[in-house]
Amino acid sequence: EHIPVIAVDGPSGVGKGTLCVLLAKHLKWHLLDSGAIYRVLALSAIKQHVALENELELAILAKKLLLRFISDETGVQVMLDDENVSAQLRLQEIGDAASKIASLPKVREALLQRQRAFRTSPGLVADGRDMGTVVFPQATVKIFLDASPQARAERRMKQLQKKKICAIYDEILHEIITRDERDRNRAIAPLRSATDAFLIDSTDLSIDEVFKQALNIINSKI
Ligand code: C5P
Repeated sequence: EHIPVIAVDGPSGVGKGTLCVLLAKHLKWHLLDSGAIYRVLALSAIKQHVALENELELAILAKKLLLRFISDETGVQVMLDDENVSAQLRLQEIGDAASKIASLPKVREALLQRQRAFRTSPGLVADGRDMGTVVFPQATVKIFLDASPQARAERRMKQLQKKKICAIYDEILHEIITRDERDRNRAIAPLRSATDAFLIDSTDLSIDEVFKQALNIINSKI
């Protein structure tokens, strides 16, 4: 495989999504939002009344999933069976359900090829938890983006306030810490930095500064 991959991993709410969109646009490369795939699978399971613990059924569902990403001027739209589910995917309960099914080995296995298929010319920016460790262990550049739970909770509060959604800081912080724990402590493909990843701590950085640091790392490697 000579097609370059930039693997960006990190905990939820750290700004990976924003960084990866900026990088993909700048480089004019493809984008893989792997979290969206886990979210779509969770949504599909809920719609079809498949229990979130039913590993075998979930793996079958993962293989059959009719999922498409469509880019337009407003961003990337996610289609499940030709229904635009982008807004539903962002719901807290879907993120939570995604994190639950993501701990099941057969589910992760069933989604591997689907994720690797995004690696097409001229290159791929891949956003997730295990991009540099499992899905693309040979990635050209690996970045691990981190920030304190408090900083991530504050950013999430601001996003919600912008959308005029009421939120309680302590609850948001609690959700972030709970999801982190589940993602870091699961037996398979736990959230962790690859040994050869560059660490960026965005706790005290703006999006712009994170983008610049990431570009410097990438330019030094490709
Ligand atoms: O990144 P996002 O919040 O959309 O991901 C939702 C959930 O999917 C995460 O909390 C994580 O448990 C799971 N996930 C994963 N591996 C990935 C991407 C997401 O386990 N590569």
